[in-house]
Amino acid sequence: MTETEKKKKQEEEEQPEQVVNPWEVSAKDGGKIDYDKLIDRFGCQRLDQTLIHRLHRLTSRPPHVFLRRGVFFAHRDFAEILDAYERGDKFYLYTGRGPSSEALHLGHLIPFMFTKYLQDAFKVPLVIQLTDDEKFLWKNLTVDECQRLARENAKDIIACGFDISKTFIFSDFSYLGGSFYKNMVEVAKRVTYNQAVGIFGFTGEDHIGKVSFPPVQAVPSFPSSFPHLFSGKQNLRCLIPCAIDQDPYFRMTRDVAPRIGCHKPALIESLFFPALQGETGKMSASDPNSAIYVTDSAKDIKNKVNKHAFSGGQDSIEKHRQLGANLEVDIPIKYLSFFLEDDDELEHIKKEYGAGRMLTGEVKQRLVEVLTELVERHRRARAAVTEEMVDAFMAVRPLPHMFA
Ligand code: TYM
Ligand code: TRP
Repeated sequence: MTETEKKKKQEEEEQPEQVVNPWEVSAKDGGKIDYDKLIDRFGCQRLDQTLIHRLHRLTSRPPHVFLRRGVFFAHRDFAEILDAYERGDKFYLYTGRGPSSEALHLGHLIPFMFTKYLQDAFKVPLVIQLTDDEKFLWKNLTVDECQRLARENAKDIIACGFDISKTFIFSDFSYLGGSFYKNMVEVAKRVTYNQAVGIFGFTGEDHIGKVSFPPVQAVPSFPSSFPHLFSGKQNLRCLIPCAIDQDPYFRMTRDVAPRIGCHKPALIESLFFPALQGETGKMSASDPNSAIYVTDSAKDIKNKVNKHAFSGGQDSIEKHRQLGANLEVDIPIKYLSFFLEDDDELEHIKKEYGAGRMLTGEVKQRLVEVLTELVERHRRARAAVTEEMVDAFMAVRPLPHMFA
């Protein structure tokens, strides 16, 4: 850490700030997450219109709704990926999931839905890491349970529609070893304990399993970790779609990469899909009332939205008609901006609701329809995923047509 970094850190410690790391997301004093500050502090870049236009031009696909609405809002070296692609060099995608719960919630779907769009648009291979070891180390779960959850979660991920001829899903407990492990020790040797404390906030009370984990999440960024896929392609670049809570892992990875002769992975990072209660944190699996799961029934969704979704509407109809809703804090509007694809309808709702002509109940009803349809579609796709399909996606195999 440089002196300025040290000073910055000290200042932050004196003044409790928002916390964003892979294990905790919370805004300052019950306010909203300040994403501008996060970009500053992490040192990533804002994803601007120029890059979105370039992506449109290069892939001839209309930008995904998550790009149009600024859900994916930050990046590291995404321009380099596009430069390479424009020259005719492909890349591969890497994302992951820590299997800590039986079912995914809507927030988890965001990186996977977006990764599916990127895979289709660029026609590139994808590796998906299931960090069953991470969840064993951080949660009160047995090894067997974590492995079982990884397989269950793989079904939800496959249901997002990934192309089996371009996608390799692996669980850490099953895949670690060989070239992957060699890269892990190369990384581990180049990160000091003090650096790990600085990046992840480990304390002397944390067990050494946690301290030793970050290289596991780092090395899928290097093509040499997957000899069955990328042998002879050591120069292939890697692009990682994720929410910005995962950034610490990849700051560490990018710091080490050039020192072991690898490209730094590029990142494209999203906002957090907020909890039903408001934008102070992310939707989290640890609080069932804060989250809508892909396994929730139409009735569950209706109840949760009506009971728990924080509303920016006024407390009486008269006041609401007069003042209109505060869209800035309204969760139904926020959720619609992630999942209602029709730009015109979204604008219309915002205008009418903001002016008090539409009531909270009506907006919530529209949200319940949108979410129920999304969850129903997911449920049907997941029901079609067989054990054989999971085995096929997770088989260690070459992917001969992965760039076609
Ligand atoms: P996990 O399982 O906590 O989350 C999986 C992915 O979902 C994102 N995410 C969210 N996105 C938007 N809104 C939310 N409320 C929300 N909650 C979670 C996460 O950022 C992540 O992209 N350690 C990782 C697993 C992992 C990984 C990776 C993730 C291993 N390698 C590479 C991304 C990229 C984890 O436990 O994620
Ligand atoms: N509540 C988070 C979860 O869904 C906490 C967490 C633990 C986490 N490890 C993580 C979040 C890694 C993101 C990445 O498990």
